[in-house]
Amino acid sequence: MRTLIQHALAATGPAEAITLQGWVRTRRDSKGFSFLELNDGSCFGSIQVVVDTGTPGFTDPTLFTTGSSVTVEGTLVASPAAGQKWEVKASAVALVGGADATYPLQKKGHTLEFLRTIAHLRPRSNLFGAVFRVRSRLAFAVHEFFQKRDFVYVHTPIITASDCEGAGEMFRVTTLKGNLDEKPEADFFGKPAYLTVSGQLEGETFACALSNIYTFGPTFRAENSNTARHAAEFWMIEPEMAFCDLQGDMELGEAFIKAMAAYTLEHCAEDLAFFARFVDKGLLERLKFVTERPFVRVTYTEAVEILKQSGKAFEFPVEYGQNLQSEHERFLTEEHFKSPTTVFNYPREIKPFYMRLNDDQKTVTAMDVLVPGIGEVIGGAQREERLDQLVENMKYHQLKPEDYWWYMDLRKYGSVPHAGFGLGFERLLMFLTGVSNIRDVIPFARTPGNAEF
Ligand code: 4AD
Ligand code: MG
Repeated sequence: MRTLIQHALAATGPAEAITLQGWVRTRRDSKGFSFLELNDGSCFGSIQVVVDTGTPGFTDPTLFTTGSSVTVEGTLVASPAAGQKWEVKASAVALVGGADATYPLQKKGHTLEFLRTIAHLRPRSNLFGAVFRVRSRLAFAVHEFFQKRDFVYVHTPIITASDCEGAGEMFRVTTLKGNLDEKPEADFFGKPAYLTVSGQLEGETFACALSNIYTFGPTFRAENSNTARHAAEFWMIEPEMAFCDLQGDMELGEAFIKAMAAYTLEHCAEDLAFFARFVDKGLLERLKFVTERPFVRVTYTEAVEILKQSGKAFEFPVEYGQNLQSEHERFLTEEHFKSPTTVFNYPREIKPFYMRLNDDQKTVTAMDVLVPGIGEVIGGAQREERLDQLVENMKYHQLKPEDYWWYMDLRKYGSVPHAGFGLGFERLLMFLTGVSNIRDVIPFARTPGNAEF
């Protein structure tokens, strides 16, 4: 029976017989014996295995190279070496799969750029093992957060015919060849279909029946932005709450981010310690700050005033009625407030049709949560629940109401105030690990010009 190294290292006492399986990180040979540093990815740490030359399976130590996979049988004993409680004294070893000198992850440090070119092997490195263990635990924490609050998990479709954000950044899904626009009715779905940019519209239908719901799945955007925060395929979490307004939406967004930070501090301590040492020195302090302090809230109008009066020379000018650029968002959260910041009530012209028009007739009930190092991590809103106003919003944004007939039905039959948001899972991971490029928190990044693996 195989024991994971995670459990071996956490043992409360020695063990007479233990079997470990993993990959050799390094081997050091001494006279008459060798040290193997064995890692199986179950935790950050590797375990030291002491193998006497001539131990069954170990007649040729040089076969046990960096990257090779092995099975070790032996006893778990207290380690005399500093910094490790336990080590394994091998009674038998077996080489499962060798790795020759071309194995790219030899001991020396590698750049993140290089590691992206070997995305199939990088999970075997310290950094990526840590990133993907944290990613897995956080995915669990997301479900736990919502399930504990009685939210229902809804699987919204990946293929859709509606452009939720109205930004025209969708990947077409088709079985047609040649000119796609010539005969869309002859296409597989009888009309143009796309990969979803958001599950929100479908999510709203379920919120208007099951009250509180969330989605958690892949989303796709064909925006050609080559930044450290944009991917063409990313995962989004989208809660939607019936009988809820913008205030309640902002509160949930804030509570959610705080809970994720607290969960990471509590359940990913070993991996976080690595990030805090090698990736982002201020990480632990920042996460504690996030869990302890309320977020700042400002209106878009106030935010624009602050930016204008900052005296900073921004690359993009600050103008009321323009989208906040990443540099503006980061100034607000990193330099001005030095805190996660929720900006709300944006001008209607820069936000999608589904947001509720405020009484001033100029702004909509939008809210974006900005965090240091990233900028926008959440985008959300209270939804327009008044049928007449929704139709007016669609016309304002040059959309055809008939394309959204089912979405309008929600306003026709038992309409309720409701609100929700979308949180980019990778951006959250960047924030919680300090890893500064989105390509390094998703197993296989999809970005313009790149779909290898
Ligand atoms: O602000 P967005 O576009 O909002 C929506 O899609 C709404 N329908 C959500 C809702 O209200 N249910 O996207 C939401 C979040 C952003 O704040 C960002 O964190 C992330 O999704 N995001 C991306 N993450 C990685 N790569 C991209 N290209 C992203 N675009 C958005
Ligand atoms: Mg947004």
